[in-house]
Amino acid sequence: MKADNRQLGSDPFGAIYDQTDRHRRQHGCWAYPFGDGRALGTLAAATGAARILELGTALGYTSCWLAYGNPMARVDTIERDPEHVRLARQNIADAGLSDRVTVHAGSFDEVLATLEPGYDLAFFDGYAPTPGDLDALRALLRPRGVLIAANLDLDRGRTVRAALADEARWLTAPLLEGGRTTVSVAI
Ligand SMILES: C[S@@+](CC[C@H](N)C(=O)[O-])C[C@H]1O[C@@H](n2cnc3c(N)ncnc32)[C@H](O)[C@@H]1O
Repeated sequence: MKADNRQLGSDPFGAIYDQTDRHRRQHGCWAYPFGDGRALGTLAAATGAARILELGTALGYTSCWLAYGNPMARVDTIERDPEHVRLARQNIADAGLSDRVTVHAGSFDEVLATLEPGYDLAFFDGYAPTPGDLDALRALLRPRGVLIAANLDLDRGRTVRAALADEARWLTAPLLEGGRTTVSVAI
């Protein structure tokens, strides 16, 4: 269960958050909307990120927040569930963000191998990242690029949490969702 910090401010994408919660219950999937979309939008703005990569689109809630936070940014987001891809594309179009948000249908491994390096900001929100996901993300981030990694309290997240604590490679702080989501800079 994700923390819900939406009470900290209004949420322009609250309807997508609620739709994602309803969808998950009916679909029996793992589409938990991230609890702090506003923080993602603020980090997209604060980093001045022109290119943003997201792993785990679900119905597009956080893709919309990332694009909304920084009107100069383009977002590439990856999702393998065809129904999530369909609903996310619809929600992103309805939000008027289709020109800056691209939903890539496929698994993380398949799609990451097709992307150009040089991302300023990456957000991982597909269960917990594996060490392989972390290596692939590092290769796609520019030097001093920022990685936001969710779900690091899950068992599978432990190895990656340890890797993100390696200060020769990452500067990391457990900034979001009570520490279960970290923010790191690639050294
Ligand atoms: C927790 S949800 C993402 C929530 C979304 N960021 C939000 O806040 O609304 C995780 C999503 O990642 C997708 N996913 C999980 N593993 C994946 C993989 N290996 N490749 C592609 N998509 C994956 C799932 O289908 C699911 O929609």
